[in-house]
Amino acid sequence: MSQVVLDNVTKVYPGGFLAVDRMNLRAEDGELLVLLGPSGCGKSTLLRMIAGLEDITDGDLWLGGKIANHLAPRDRDVAMVFQNGALYPHRTVRGNLSFPLEIAKADPQMVRDRVVELSKALHIDETLDRRPGTLSGGQRQRVAMGRAIVRQPSLFLMDEPLSNLDAGMRTELRMEISSLVRALGVTTIYVTHDQIEALTLADRIAIMNRGVLQDIGTPAQVYNDPATAFTAAFLSSQQLNLLAATVRTPQNQFIMLDFGTHQITMPWTDPRAYAVSQHTGSQIIVGIRPDALAPMPEGMDGPVFMGRVRTLEYHGHEWLAYVECGIPAVAVPEPPDPRFRAANGGGANGSKTRSMMRRLFNSDIDADDTPSGPQSGPNGLGSHRRADLIVRLGARPSWRAGEHARVAVDVSRLMLFTHTGARIDPPRR
Ligand SMILES: Nc1ncnc2c1ncn2[C@@H]1O[C@H](COP(=O)(O)OP(=O)(O)OP(=O)(O)O)[C@@H](O)[C@H]1O
Ligand SMILES: [Mg+2]
Repeated sequence: MSQVVLDNVTKVYPGGFLAVDRMNLRAEDGELLVLLGPSGCGKSTLLRMIAGLEDITDGDLWLGGKIANHLAPRDRDVAMVFQNGALYPHRTVRGNLSFPLEIAKADPQMVRDRVVELSKALHIDETLDRRPGTLSGGQRQRVAMGRAIVRQPSLFLMDEPLSNLDAGMRTELRMEISSLVRALGVTTIYVTHDQIEALTLADRIAIMNRGVLQDIGTPAQVYNDPATAFTAAFLSSQQLNLLAATVRTPQNQFIMLDFGTHQITMPWTDPRAYAVSQHTGSQIIVGIRPDALAPMPEGMDGPVFMGRVRTLEYHGHEWLAYVECGIPAVAVPEPPDPRFRAANGGGANGSKTRSMMRRLFNSDIDADDTPSGPQSGPNGLGSHRRADLIVRLGARPSWRAGEHARVAVDVSRLMLFTHTGARIDPPRR
């Protein structure tokens, strides 16, 4: 059993590409930690550094309490499963599963028993005498998984093992992986770019973007209380409404979020009120999930946005409405593009980096906390195009296109971020 600790781990590829930037992470003994992020954010790089397949440029990796930066891959007691779990084509399923144990010179009877037992758990016992070429994609991934599990390593590293399978097979195997690794109690780091996979599988999720850790916590923590606007947007199943608002505190009576065409008040009793009031006079980013908005019932009052329903969208289990409210939309703040970021101190604030970005994108970049690179204006809040507010209507469409709509806002579910996308309330974990 093993605990994995990454202490300021950084990866710069030859040529200067900063793929992982000062990553601090800890997977506890027996934990299933999911690394989640968009394509190219550095997930595989991080996993390969843990496996010893890629050098660590800077920082420390600890495995089971020992520093492991320079440990040979075979001495790390890890097993890795890749997206296309490569199998030995000329060996049967049985031969593939037993291979890691044969290499370890295990007792042949034990090998036979273990292979049969494992093949039953993975539902591939019927295929033991077949070669990989005759298996379906799902069966091949099960064999690859089995080959990693068979010698019971201290650590499993899984790099998008299900991404080549169809949706049904993915769901099925996902549940099996979850119960299998939990039954074995082996620490597992599982990489995916699929937020549903992350939410359903993980003990904890670490979200990455552009080589930078965005948030880490249990699925409920990162979903309900995301540390950054990026996390909020990435974990939303429907598109997140991200709006620009100026904070005002008229006569100190309440907090007003001023959206230009609309104002929403937040009472001092809101637990975030004090933290938000620290931004009085400044622009912040307000994230609203479509299910925190609803049609305001007839004759009722409360915080509302008003506008014209532009279009309705049918999603099978629900309808979404797009409502024109004239509120400025903002782009998701992201760390600066790693192509223009130097490691070791250059980072987001390097003046060379800034001048290069200015040249390339003809835009003004703030000195600190550059939010979304080329898309951001001087105040960091993007182009201020008008947003359509996306509202979840549920199973029946209560509005028609063209209709004037009153959209009720659940103020307690507004997600509030600084202009650089960091959560505004005091950290609770
Ligand atoms: N050997 C390399 N040399 C230079 N750059 C590399 C190398 N390997 C990866 N990169 C770059 O590092 C970044 C991170 O790559 P990585 O494979 O870790 O991303 P990822 O998050 O696993 O993406 P995906 O979800 O598409 O697999 C990418 O921009 C990639 O082009
Ligand atoms: Mg990858």
